Amino acid sequence: MNLLAPLNYKKNKAEETKIEGALVGILGSKGGTGATTLAVNLAADFSRSISRGSQVCLVDANLQQPDAALYLNSRPENTLCELLSRSANLEVQTIEACKIPVGSGQNLRLISPPVDGSAATHQDKDELSTCLPQVAKTSSITIVDLPRRLEKSLVMLLDQCQFVVLVVEPNVASIAAAKRWLEVFNDLEYSDTKIILAANRLGSKAKLLETQLSNSFERHSIFKIPNAFKAIETSQIEGIALADFNPKDPYTKAINAISLELLRRIKQSARTIDLEEE
Ligand SMILES: Nc1ncnc2c1ncn2[C@@H]1O[C@H](COP(=O)(O)OP(=O)(O)O)[C@@H](O)[C@H]1O
Ligand SMILES: [Mg+2]
Repeated sequence: MNLLAPLNYKKNKAEETKIEGALVGILGSKGGTGATTLAVNLAADFSRSISRGSQVCLVDANLQQPDAALYLNSRPENTLCELLSRSANLEVQTIEACKIPVGSGQNLRLISPPVDGSAATHQDKDELSTCLPQVAKTSSITIVDLPRRLEKSLVMLLDQCQFVVLVVEPNVASIAAAKRWLEVFNDLEYSDTKIILAANRLGSKAKLLETQLSNSFERHSIFKIPNAFKAIETSQIEGIALADFNPKDPYTKAINAISLELLRRIKQSARTIDLEEE
């Protein structure tokens, strides 16, 4: 008798599980580390690899400085504000109406605050965490470009994220800031597997700092992203994610490694839930 058969059966069945409602947050350890660029490219990369008929949504939660729409050359008409002002009773149609199709494929959407930053003075950012789970339910994967100010509204968003990608650069201030964020995550009792580190803009002359960066975060998975100034500049001027603009660029390949790992973890946790429910 093959004792492993029932387990294998469960595993195969679960491997077919469709990804639904996954929520991934992108957090810059400091301003300018490349969090929004990563969020935009990760969303574009997911939308390329995910099955047809599935949707990826990028939510820019930076009410004061929403940059994702700029990088994607998009001018939202219906904005995140419509969702924040109705937050408790969102209808699927209202959410869909605020999604802007972006990218070269059919399945990437953006929800952005108005690009003039007016949402910061007119909206209550605590409502973000009321909206987000409802928004996430309407896509396979939702990527949230998180604000950086450590306050209750951010903690509520972080709690809702299944995974958080923390972006760090090889400079003293960014490494110190990333360590502080890891302390915060520790206080919030997040598991190490919830956090992925993305070391951005590697390959410069700051070799000592790159080594220090690699050695500083041994407990966490750390993904390396090369400096890609020219390629990113060109893609941003064109208003197209580099992952769409040049799938073979080393930056895109590094983003692809992160999206594969996230997909693996998302599927793994879906499998665990499936098995627990059976
Ligand atoms: N890997 C990289 N190589 C070169 N430039 C980068 C890289 N990642 C981001 N940038 C640039 O750094 C600047 C800040 O990036 P952004 O994503 O807006 O940072 P943040 O959202 O963390 O404030 C942008 O001009 C962007 O083009
Ligand atoms: Mg940003």
